[in-house]
Amino acid sequence: MTNPLEQEVARRRTFAIISHPDAGKTTLTEKLLLFGGAIQLAGQVRAKGDRRRTRSDWMSIERARGISVVTSVMTFEYDGTVFNLLDTPGHEDFSEDTYRTLTAVDAAVMVIDAAKGIEARTRKLFEICRLRDIPIITFVNKMDREARDPLDLLDEIEKGLALSVAPMVWPIGQGKDFAGTYDLNSPRVRQLEQDPAGVPVSGPDDPLIPTLVKPDTFAKWRDEIDLVKDLCTSFDRQAFLEGHLSPVYFGSALKNFGVRDLLEALIAYAPPPRDQQAAGRVVHATEPKMTGIVFKIQANMDPNHRDRIAFMRLASGKLTRGMKAKLVRTGKTVALNAPQFFFAQDRSIADEAFAGDVVGIPNHGLLRIGDTLTEGEDVVFTGVPSFAPEILRRVKLGDPMKAKKLREALQQLAEEGVVQLFIPADGSPAIVGVVGALQLDVLADRLANEYGVPASFEPARYEVMRWITCDVPKKLDEFIANNRFSIAHDLDGDPVFMAQSAFNLNYTLERAPEIRTTEIKE
Ligand code: G4P
Repeated sequence: MTNPLEQEVARRRTFAIISHPDAGKTTLTEKLLLFGGAIQLAGQVRAKGDRRRTRSDWMSIERARGISVVTSVMTFEYDGTVFNLLDTPGHEDFSEDTYRTLTAVDAAVMVIDAAKGIEARTRKLFEICRLRDIPIITFVNKMDREARDPLDLLDEIEKGLALSVAPMVWPIGQGKDFAGTYDLNSPRVRQLEQDPAGVPVSGPDDPLIPTLVKPDTFAKWRDEIDLVKDLCTSFDRQAFLEGHLSPVYFGSALKNFGVRDLLEALIAYAPPPRDQQAAGRVVHATEPKMTGIVFKIQANMDPNHRDRIAFMRLASGKLTRGMKAKLVRTGKTVALNAPQFFFAQDRSIADEAFAGDVVGIPNHGLLRIGDTLTEGEDVVFTGVPSFAPEILRRVKLGDPMKAKKLREALQQLAEEGVVQLFIPADGSPAIVGVVGALQLDVLADRLANEYGVPASFEPARYEVMRWITCDVPKKLDEFIANNRFSIAHDLDGDPVFMAQSAFNLNYTLERAPEIRTTEIKE
């Protein structure tokens, strides 16, 4: 008999959707939320049409560019399971945000456009998932349009991503002839716009099937099914949980077809909240004491309130509204008086939350990305990464009288993860680092509008930046002293080496073999 905490943890699934822009992530999200009853009307998640944009667009820049900058979380319940769906920014300039979000999920749904196959951004996001062995469920979307041959698509995933695939259903027709799918594991035919439970059949030769679909479509499907049986791998849950094999579903988010299959797959196969590695020990999700890690800070969700929300994933135990938590980085106590759950466009106070859940904690700058909250233990989780920025800029202040204000603003925005901030050791002006150029636009926008310090950016002398470490602290100090003009410190005070080019970086490092450099800091 499991205890109530174990039961709550076991019924949670925390996941993200990864895809290339336009593959249908927004549409699929809407349909998933509809199943969960989190929204009444499909279309509310979307930030494209003006009428629907009011609440989900949190920043003017987002409105101006018609892109989704922020990562949000949506919590909904379906068939007794609590889902936390973590949304990721659609634009690749905000990929740092996406990477951090992927550290907070236990599974991912990879959406592929049936006409396009694996696209650049899908591949990149997949690689991030692979680094962490995140189990992936594949959804081949837009089967109601002209699609590529399904076997070709599977071959492309298998070869292109080096990921085994196991089709769970097989499409019957495509484009205007898309009639539905055949369930390969418990033989049944699900038809478009019919009862989603489908019609049970004895197998591919059941005489009922030709009565359900057009003769041409049936004939082609019947030929394919034998090939599928011969060529394709069957589903193996262990291999899926280890991130080596992906179950594949075919459908159409637009026509709300195959979406329920996905939810059921998440319930049946995706893992409940995993154990998390912390410095010194592993934290089990079902431990009674609450621990959680902040992976995202969102400012200005409600421009009228100027609030900052820290998104925390609970790693273990139960959070109760009003409880006092310890912020391990500073030792301070944080009263969790108003933790929030987020739905499609609303939020509500969470009276309790369990491991796997993602809650928003309103605060005024107390919490940073990577922070851990506990019931007293000094747990430090590893794993919320920072990535070496690809663009480095010096911040040029419009009004020199506002230097102090600028410093404070940059510090706060860096703590939120908007940009990374580096303070050069030689006392020269601060350098900001970003992965994508749009992050700089967001920074400029927020500096001017929220902090009243208009600033511009000029190229820094450097192009490459790496964190540096050394097993012998004295050697690191020597290296820093000898390269003072190329050294800066990040928000945590960790040293980085900045070089004018990759050539310069290598040149210096070859002469200091004891120094290790990294592109990712966890
Ligand atoms: P994204 O979030 O991954 O960028 O994709 P999104 O859901 O916004 O979908 C991109 C386009 O593809 C949208 O059309 C959407 O309606 C369409 N779409 C999504 N899923 C399906 C599907 O299963 N079948 C078909 N036929 N189309 C699909 P749009 O014209 O760009 O936008 P909209 O005017 O419909 O909002």
